[in-house]
Amino acid sequence: MIVKAFPQDFVWGVSTSAYQVEGAWNEDGKGESIWDRFCHTPYRIANGDTGDIACDHYHRMPEDVALMKELGVKGYRFSIAWTRIFPDGKGKVNPKGLDFYDRLVDELGKAGILANATLNHWDLPQALQDLGGWANRDTTDRFAEYARVMFDRLGDRVALWATHNEPVVVTSGYLGGSMAPGLADASVAYRVAHHLNLAHGKAVQVFRQGGYPGKIGIVLDLQNYIPESDSEADVLATQRMLDHSHHLFLDPIFKRQYPQGLMEWLGTIAPQPQEGDMEIISTPIDFLGLNYYFTLKVRYEPWGGLLKAAARPFSAPMWSQTEMGWGVHPEGLTAILLKLRNHYGNPDIYITENGTAAPDQPDEHGFVQDRERIAYLRRHLIAAHDAIQQGVNLRGYFVWSFMDNFEWALGYRPRFGIVRVDYATQKRIPKLSAYWYREVIRQNAVWE
Ligand code: NOJ
Repeated sequence: MIVKAFPQDFVWGVSTSAYQVEGAWNEDGKGESIWDRFCHTPYRIANGDTGDIACDHYHRMPEDVALMKELGVKGYRFSIAWTRIFPDGKGKVNPKGLDFYDRLVDELGKAGILANATLNHWDLPQALQDLGGWANRDTTDRFAEYARVMFDRLGDRVALWATHNEPVVVTSGYLGGSMAPGLADASVAYRVAHHLNLAHGKAVQVFRQGGYPGKIGIVLDLQNYIPESDSEADVLATQRMLDHSHHLFLDPIFKRQYPQGLMEWLGTIAPQPQEGDMEIISTPIDFLGLNYYFTLKVRYEPWGGLLKAAARPFSAPMWSQTEMGWGVHPEGLTAILLKLRNHYGNPDIYITENGTAAPDQPDEHGFVQDRERIAYLRRHLIAAHDAIQQGVNLRGYFVWSFMDNFEWALGYRPRFGIVRVDYATQKRIPKLSAYWYREVIRQNAVWE
């Protein structure tokens, strides 16, 4: 048996997001978000599912934190529902919304679990969407205002803050139609991306001015894209895919500029920074959050829309695809971590999400022996360990997800949790992977 030991102080965590677990969509003064609106629109979501109740975490939070503690978890990554704080996106703060997150971080503190809070995990207030959403530059100031309220209230107890989660997916809500707000207009999407970057930078500046004790960063999903062949067309399509999903966010933040190739390719629809924007966006951050799930092979496609690219899952020989159709390829994680080391100044990194939707088969007690998930997690932890050996500053790892939850447009069918949720009873039943993870945490190591 080979034991791969992780650095001391490595943070072993679990991850969720507000809309996917909280439920209580209109309680205690919460306002409507774009995901509430989207899910209440017929035919948007598989099976007509909504996050109205989800895992009912809003009411079960203390028990959920107690379960995390029982599983030995050292960090909890959650997100804050902007609409609980500002039901109308701006104006009056809703004290009950603030109280909920206040109680959550206190509960985490009592359990000795580090708090890792994300400000924007996609659930923009509908009231701001009505004014154009992220396409409206004003939203960047509203975001900074909301960030300040949260820093003031929780800043003494939250160790890690992230501004956005996966901004490219927010952008896709203006490009593809399958994510809220469900628009499809490429001429708006890159303005949205720029405003997301700007909002990020403004929030980081607010954080610096306030002198809060924690650290701040952003969470990007950087999947591994490789060309299907070495033809010029496939290589170019892959470059576009990377420019769109990696460099559109990495470069402004770490290099104070949008990549030249991206600007030329997008032409008139490219981001149009105003004077001073790039300085704001590139305000130094303390860490980068990385969500990694899969590797895709990219092929040039003449009718492939803006990207002129089609992607199909790529998987290392012994691996299949997950329930999501994603190619399992742990080496891709090492590759991305090395890219960040080599080209983005070797920042401190937390893997803020990694995990898989496996075909869980509960027994009559609801217990799931999810060996496939354990294999996925183990391989990816070994890949992360390889990167650490090669000098990557990886500080922690958060499994997606603590528990099964609402998987956006796909509804409740895909199950990512290491804890099973029986939605009929809201019972939480740790899966075999949860006990395996507890052992990993206890030993601060994986073994193969
Ligand atoms: C990324 C997102 O941040 C999260 O909300 C989602 O559930 C997982 N990936 C799985 O798709």
